[in-house]
This record gives sequence, structure tokens and C-alpha cells, in this order.
Amino acid sequence: MSRRRKIYEGKAKTLYEGPEPGTLVQHFKDDATAGNGEKHEIIDGKGVLNNRISEYIFQNLNDLGIPTHFIRRLNMREQLIKEVEIIPIEIIVRNIAAGSLAKRLGLEVGTKLPRSIIEFCYKDDELGDPLVAEEHITAFGWANPAELDDIMSLAVRVNDYLSGLFMGVGLQLVDFKIECGRLFEGDIMRIILADEISPDSCRLWDVKTKNKFDKDLFREGKGGLIEAYHEVAQRLGILSETENALSTGPRLVK
Ligand code: TMP
Repeated sequence: MSRRRKIYEGKAKTLYEGPEPGTLVQHFKDDATAGNGEKHEIIDGKGVLNNRISEYIFQNLNDLGIPTHFIRRLNMREQLIKEVEIIPIEIIVRNIAAGSLAKRLGLEVGTKLPRSIIEFCYKDDELGDPLVAEEHITAFGWANPAELDDIMSLAVRVNDYLSGLFMGVGLQLVDFKIECGRLFEGDIMRIILADEISPDSCRLWDVKTKNKFDKDLFREGKGGLIEAYHEVAQRLGILSETENALSTGPRLVK
């Protein structure tokens, strides 16, 4: 690993040069951060679980014709991805009021929204990823109107898929964040899904108990994060029968 060229290091993932032109290796770390990096801990096994959960979701999206950067998983912590030009916007889709939306608009946490809402944040750590409008995105050229249409249509399709997937295993998809990138293939440019989808980037509540199965456990200092992520993986059927029977921690097969 030491000889590989590091392309980018984020809070929870590192990108390395890939084996072929146009590819990268995405490495999932165990680092958990919140409050724009103010709170930071290493949580053993988080990267392994997120690699597997994100693989499962992105592979299913690829199979459904929703384009993503995911090519294949390489090992416990790494996946091969297509290199894209990241659009500097976080796209947040919300179904139920929680987090910053509940705070900003004074909504009771848990209120079902009249319809799904898409929000955008400008990716800039120094500014704390501020909420921006479509107008800012197009005026500052972060994405053009046609790209923004593609991004919103991707976000809606991902929301439909994820809501159904999680509802099927007794979890409510409260909200989630995605990132998109430009994939250049010859003369053609396509907007595809990039980054990851995992309990780090979603809010997931148990349908019956409303217990949390996502990074809010860490943000709120509640503990039990690895057990919760492990259960998400188990419910999705990502872990083997043997692993389920053992259920002693986040050890994974393969
Ligand atoms: P928020 O309510 O804090 O704005 O978060 C909305 C959703 O986006 C939630 O599922 C967590 C996710 N998210 C990230 O994945 N990364 C981030 O940097 C932020 C602010 C939110």
C-alpha cells in the first residue's frame, strides 16, 4: 500500500491511484468524525463494514441501471472505482425531519415531510459545508442546469431504491447524503453517483422501536455504533449465516 500514489485523503476514506487509467482505489478508514472534524475517534471495524454495505448498495444500483463509480470490491477495506471529476456539492435527500433541517426550521424530529426534499451543501470544510440554493450552484458554475437536473433525478431514484431496500429490513430511511461526479468516456460526459452510501451518510431508524442505526450514535456520543452498523449489514443479508450465528462483532467473511 505504501508504494501507491495517494490522490486524496478525506476524513473517512483515502483515494489511491488505480491499477488502470481512469480507475482509483477507494480505501475505507475506521475514522469517525462529526461537527466538521471537531469530534474524532477511531472505531475498529467501521471501515470494513462501510466498504461492504456501500458495495452492496452501489452494486444493486449499477444492476438497476443507476450509474455509479463502483466497479468491484478488492478486499476488506478497498474497492475499485471509476475516476470522476467530483462535483463540489453534497446532495441531501430528506423524507423525515431530523438533524439540521429540524433545527433550522424548528420542526419536531420524526415529522414526516409533505414530500421528499432535496437540499444542497457546498463542499468546503473551512466554511462548514454551507447550505446553498440551485441558483448558487449554477451561478458559480459548480454544475450547469442540465447537470443539476441529472443530479436531482439520480437523487430521486436513489431515494426510491434505498427507501424500499431499508423498509424491507425494518429500517426507515430518514435522510441521506450523496455525491456525484462527471465521468468522461471519449466525447461523452455522464453524471454518476460517487463516494459511498453507508450508515455514515444515512439516517436509519428501526421502524418499530425508532432506535438509531447510523452515525448519529457517534455524533450524540451514545456508543454502540459498530453493533448498529453490523446489524444493518446483517439485516441486508450481507453477512453469512455463520457470521450471524456468532454475532460477536463486526468480523466479516471473504
Ligand atoms: P444533516 O441533518 O446534519 O444536515 O444531515 C443530513 C444527512 O446527510 C444525514 O443523513 C447525514 C448526512 N451527512 C453526511 O453524510 N455528511 C455530512 O457532512 C453532513 C453534514 C450530513
